[in-house]
Amino acid sequence: MEKKKILFAASECVPFIKTGGLADVVGSLPKDIDPELFDVRVMLPKYSCMKQSVKDNMEYVTHLYMDYHWKSEYVGVLQTVYAGITFYFIDNESFFTTDTVYTDDPLFEITRYAFFSKACLSVLPALDFRPDLIHCHDWQTGLIPVYLKERFQGDQFYHGIKTIMTIHNLKFQGRWGVEDVEDITGLSGYYFTPDKLEAYKDANLLKGGLVYADEITTVSPTYAEEIKTPFFGEGLDGLMNARSAELHGILNGIDYTDFSPDHDTKIAKPYTVSTFRRDKIKNKIALQKELGLRRDEKCMMIGIVSRLTDQKGFDLIAYVLEEMLSTDAIQIVVLGTGEDRYENMFRYFDWKYNDKLSANIYYSDELSHKIYASSDAFLMPSLFEPCGLSQLMSLRYGTLPIVRETGGLKDTVEPFNEYEGTGTGFSFTNYNAHDMMHVIRYAEHIFYDRKRDWNKIVERAMKQDFSWKQSALQYQEMYERMIGG
Ligand code: GLC
Repeated sequence: MEKKKILFAASECVPFIKTGGLADVVGSLPKDIDPELFDVRVMLPKYSCMKQSVKDNMEYVTHLYMDYHWKSEYVGVLQTVYAGITFYFIDNESFFTTDTVYTDDPLFEITRYAFFSKACLSVLPALDFRPDLIHCHDWQTGLIPVYLKERFQGDQFYHGIKTIMTIHNLKFQGRWGVEDVEDITGLSGYYFTPDKLEAYKDANLLKGGLVYADEITTVSPTYAEEIKTPFFGEGLDGLMNARSAELHGILNGIDYTDFSPDHDTKIAKPYTVSTFRRDKIKNKIALQKELGLRRDEKCMMIGIVSRLTDQKGFDLIAYVLEEMLSTDAIQIVVLGTGEDRYENMFRYFDWKYNDKLSANIYYSDELSHKIYASSDAFLMPSLFEPCGLSQLMSLRYGTLPIVRETGGLKDTVEPFNEYEGTGTGFSFTNYNAHDMMHVIRYAEHIFYDRKRDWNKIVERAMKQDFSWKQSALQYQEMYERMIGG
């Protein structure tokens, strides 16, 4: 039987370029799709800000010229084969030469990703790769289903190609005034009505994908339900309800080859579910030393590895941080970058409570591993969380997540129930700083006064399986159902 062909299209992907969880998902899911049944390839932009070693590994495949925004634009294709998967990179220097992956110029962002979306379709015949299905990720690829229906499907080569639109974060939609977007994309006025790409007077690229894709997925079952309500729907809850028959929540997985305390070379002392009682603490001692925290192996360490944005619940933390640090019962280690006010808040508390809080305002893969391995608990009180990956990494390292019950956090962290002896972490429901504080204090109590219970929770946490195994099967079933025999 011939393999089914799947093309992923996305704006970022590990190990080539990453700003967030999207890159982890696009980089790991293809590896877990059965290669006997599917030929999965991935299409990405070639950014000038990629590491030189990444660029050096690309080889030229082909190029063509494509009509776009009243010009004939160069579209180069390069490729790399990595972990058995073919990755294509769309090259055009005028769109992808930037210092950072994303810029803060929304019109430029829309222009370059609309270009990318059209280019993904245009290059396929030249690659001699006709996907049965294109799996699109987030707003940057929202125009693929639209362009496919609008102009490409008239051509025999494209006829019958199916599309999936996956929402990793509904907050980012790619919005701009209709007139400009019409002009840039070359899509006619027919497409810019409220039943298609227009939303609240603006053109909305994600909405295009959500209207035109054959099926829609998002990254956890709870988020799939939440986005049908006004609070989480980001203005598109009506559409999510209208398409609820095609909207599926499939939980993300993580790659345990990269994240496992038993063979992690980035941490001071590897450990397993049978040795963590003795060895996990050695990581804490090493990290306290490295970051200049008070050396106290008994002190409960709370880790935070996150983009420092509102989504992640930092206003709750801002509200009670002083109070949290008023006792010697906890130490906090923070890693990440983001909004100025949160970066500065952590810098300030690092200055004020130097031996209790360590603020690391940058991104480091290595330090993130050390924090997962060293901390006793991991704080993630998100306002909303489509899936969340760091709580999954924490569970693996026996670092108990303290989370707000929303989206993927609700689906992956089971709150400790002291009467039944179940659970893998701690959680609270309302977006309220004192509810969070209360559950942190409760976790402290279990940590200090009921160590046996704490260790049982750690054991259960470490034994959870959030690899891609189950979720990749769900995607495979969906692909098969859509493509047919
Ligand atoms: C986005 C979401 C996050 C999700 C990730 C991967 O970053 O905010 O919750 O885990 O995408 O799907």
